[in-house]
Amino acid sequence: MPDYAQPEPRREAGSYARIRAALDARLPGHSLPQSLYQDEEAFAFDQVAIFRRAWILIGFEIEFPATGSYQSLNVGGAPIIVIRDRTGVLRGFHNTCRHRGAELCPEGSGKSARLVCPYHQWTYDLSGKLIFAGRMGDDFDPAAHSLRPVHVETVAGTVYVCLADTAPDFEPYRAAVGPMLEPHDLKNAKIAFQNTLMEKANWKLVMENGRECYHCAGRHPELAVTFPIYAKGNFETVSDHEANFERRMTELGLPGIPQEAAWWQAARFPLNEGAVSMTMDGTRGVSKLMVQAGEGDIGSLRWAIEPHSFCHSTGDFTFMFSCVPISAHETMVIGKWLVHKDAVEGVDYDLERLIELWNTTNMQDRDLCELNQRGVNSPGYLPGPYSQVAESLVARFTNYYCNTAREYLDERDGKAAVAASAFAA
Ligand code: FES
Ligand SMILES: [Fe+2]
Repeated sequence: MPDYAQPEPRREAGSYARIRAALDARLPGHSLPQSLYQDEEAFAFDQVAIFRRAWILIGFEIEFPATGSYQSLNVGGAPIIVIRDRTGVLRGFHNTCRHRGAELCPEGSGKSARLVCPYHQWTYDLSGKLIFAGRMGDDFDPAAHSLRPVHVETVAGTVYVCLADTAPDFEPYRAAVGPMLEPHDLKNAKIAFQNTLMEKANWKLVMENGRECYHCAGRHPELAVTFPIYAKGNFETVSDHEANFERRMTELGLPGIPQEAAWWQAARFPLNEGAVSMTMDGTRGVSKLMVQAGEGDIGSLRWAIEPHSFCHSTGDFTFMFSCVPISAHETMVIGKWLVHKDAVEGVDYDLERLIELWNTTNMQDRDLCELNQRGVNSPGYLPGPYSQVAESLVARFTNYYCNTAREYLDERDGKAAVAASAFAA
């Protein structure tokens, strides 16, 4: 009798020989070969090899305020549910019923005491256990039909999921970034605003653009008022202003020394002199602060996750940027603005003013990503060199991409070779 609890071996979309050839053809320190920005095969590959194996920042614990609060969303094209169980723990499941596979929850958020499949009403508790399945006969074993779990982790109010069987080690990230994030009190925040932006560009172009400020002087005059657009790589200290800032942060007990590993980076860096927030004029966007450290500038804590996001936390609010690949030529950018839960709109902040800088910047970036994609589509495109001074984080991103893609291919081809030799024996 077959083991129904085991997923069948994945159908592989082609041989991925073209992907491997493109990775082999890649020039170090250069933008990627054209096919990786264009092909539907590369898009399908990225969903499986990158997005379904990485930790993905999906949002914040405050988006799951009570027992049964859930979000139904797509990660790497796979529908999942994240829900708060009766013990207060966030759990993740594949959004597919263990009867005949119907979608359990439509995309969106809500609150439910249990998960009831709309098709034949199989019912699961908040731990994913099947607690009702009508007319299934005496030999049916509900315990063998729980929802299939996905990994969920939380740090200082932020929430991550990973769809891999074995997730990348999360603990070094928790140990390094947790203490940096804690003072920003994200467990006592609320979402002041969120939006989505559709960009006609491959997700890797969106991310490359988000990993450099080479274009900022020319294209983001508003951002340049507060953001140190000539900062080094991961905001390492080079000026007196930065050294003074670092000293003051140590005195205030606000950690922020640049730290990084293959799939994340975090650093607290000073804003331009005179600025205390990332708003159009550098003044506070919210008078009720998230960080209790007096009125001075505490800079911005930038924390970024490969393959898809970056966030900036100033003393008064946090902005999250997350990209979701939609097709080879289309990417959705999700923006979320978080403020203190007791901050009152119209009293402690003006919403228009709070979101103006990042909205303006995101729309400028959308235009840049789209013109980048149009040019990359040209038969005349050739990969070009990154600036070592201004685009080191872009090189870091594309290296992460190529290394992760190659690891996946090697692992898959290794498994295929073992399977083939077992078959031959
Ligand atoms: S598919 Fe869910 S109960 Fe039948
Ligand atoms: Fe930009």
